[in-house]
Amino acid sequence: MQHEAIQEITAAGTLEALQAVKTKYVGKSGLVTRELGALGKLPPEERKARGAEINAVRQAIQAALDEREAVLKREALDAKLAGEAIDVTLPGLPLPAGGLHPINRVYEDLVNIYERLGYTVVEGPEVEDEHHNFEALNVPWYHPARDLQDTFWLEEVPASFNGPLEPGAAPAPSVPRLLRTHTSPMQVRYMVDHEPDLKVVVRGKVYRYEATDATHESMFHQLEGLVVGDGISMADLKGTIAEMARGLYGAGAKVRFQPSYYPFVEPGADFAVYWDNPRGESKWLELGGCGMVHPNVFKAVDDLREAQGKPRVYEGKTGFAFGLGPERIAMLKYKIPDIRYFYANDPRVIGQFRGELG
Ligand code: DAH
Repeated sequence: MQHEAIQEITAAGTLEALQAVKTKYVGKSGLVTRELGALGKLPPEERKARGAEINAVRQAIQAALDEREAVLKREALDAKLAGEAIDVTLPGLPLPAGGLHPINRVYEDLVNIYERLGYTVVEGPEVEDEHHNFEALNVPWYHPARDLQDTFWLEEVPASFNGPLEPGAAPAPSVPRLLRTHTSPMQVRYMVDHEPDLKVVVRGKVYRYEATDATHESMFHQLEGLVVGDGISMADLKGTIAEMARGLYGAGAKVRFQPSYYPFVEPGADFAVYWDNPRGESKWLELGGCGMVHPNVFKAVDDLREAQGKPRVYEGKTGFAFGLGPERIAMLKYKIPDIRYFYANDPRVIGQFRGELG
């Protein structure tokens, strides 16, 4: 029996087959188990010798079973590992990479130009108060830009808007808030916090309550510039805009200034850039507004500073400011025909900007 059992054990090719052999011989009602059970029926003088004999057989079978089981288990593990083997030299699966949004690419271009010219880059709050967005910028209450149609007013502003309250402190008085309609209020904030001379550009989102179409959206972006010092002139403004145009469109780019009206500058102008695009077409691209900072703006800034216990340092200074929209530049540069494509999150549009970070 031992001989047969060992043959069967050696022949068992799987753990299941081995289990069957184990049951057949040493299971509860296996052949060896039954022999042991039958010992009681033998005359006492034979029992001991027969018992020892069967036990030796059982031990030999059990040892063969254990050995075979170890072998089969190792084989099974080896097979499993071989099946799961990873070839670390295979090329990896590509992960979908993000990329800079076209508006941010244009911002990068612009900001690089201004950083090279020594400007500081800031952002500023999108939720503004009426005073910074309009009054301090010499936009009186009757100016058409303050029409309700043009402005998102906020009816309720959380008490935390002005920063966390100290325990027991009275909440700051509530003032009319709105989503900033331009980045110009940051001119005021920056001047209240800093003394001249200064050169700063503001980048960020602005909001207008108006119908959208291919060239208008209720949220868009601006880049605002402000330079203040002694004897800053219109020539400095023109030189700066020309430098920006060359930075964007190469050494041959030209700029054009046309008189225009913005309450916070005097004189004020609109500026356009003439550029040769890769298709050989040349055209004037109306980019934004600019001008010499209005004395009323400096006065409003000094008033705000005085209220904060800071010295009046702006009256008598001169400076220039400008504001432009990166959307216009991006639409032309990337041939995007509709401004709404920038914000629709349509992968067919923004997917074209994947994987390139600049
Ligand atoms: N704030 C103006 C607008 O949103 C743009 C602008 C015009 C900004 C002239 C300026 C400026 O700083 O001098 O339409």
